[in-house]
Amino acid sequence: MNKLLFFTNNENKKKEVENLFKNLKYKILSPSDMSLIFEPNEIGKSFIDNAKIKSSYGFNKFNIPCFADDSGICIEALSWKPNINSKNFLGSFKNKNDCFNYILKKVNKTKKNKAYFITSICLTLNEKHHIIFQGRLNGTISNKAMGQRGFGFDPIFKPFKFSKTLGEMDKEEKNKISHRSIAINKLINFLTN
Ligand code: IMP
Repeated sequence: MNKLLFFTNNENKKKEVENLFKNLKYKILSPSDMSLIFEPNEIGKSFIDNAKIKSSYGFNKFNIPCFADDSGICIEALSWKPNINSKNFLGSFKNKNDCFNYILKKVNKTKKNKAYFITSICLTLNEKHHIIFQGRLNGTISNKAMGQRGFGFDPIFKPFKFSKTLGEMDKEEKNKISHRSIAINKLINFLTN
């Protein structure tokens, strides 16, 4: 079985990705399987830069093909931010609810409710060979936070054509449409063709 390193220490992402790879002949390893919890600083200027920083780091450390993702949300009412700073933005509030309320107020005030999630994946096959796969999920910010599932901004994000938030969907439902699964499926297509 081919080994592939998924460079993340995020358990939610690991589960989502393992699920998508479950019928394939790949053993997905993560840094924690190799007793590594260190992650390089994400100092890039784009999702692609940051994904490449992580996949290159993983490849150089263990010398096996490595992929990494970088994701985030872009919100119209916040001038399409927080973008690559999504994690820090959420962490800058006392708790998630304060963050959600801040966003909901801005949406209410500006009457701009569009938003999208982006995932960029970089697969590093060797030092000079990096391949990028992208996924995007368009939607709107909901009127209020709904649902306890998922993580991050899931409770306030309603994908287009759906009447519920990602926070109200189970893992399988989210995996069918998510930005991350779109990008991962492109990666899987590349690996299996
Ligand atoms: P990361 O850099 O890929 O870990 O993502 C940065 C941040 O974006 C996360 O900490 C979440 O706050 C947010 N984010 C990324 N993907 C998702 C998702 O699928 N649902 C909700 N929030 C997400």
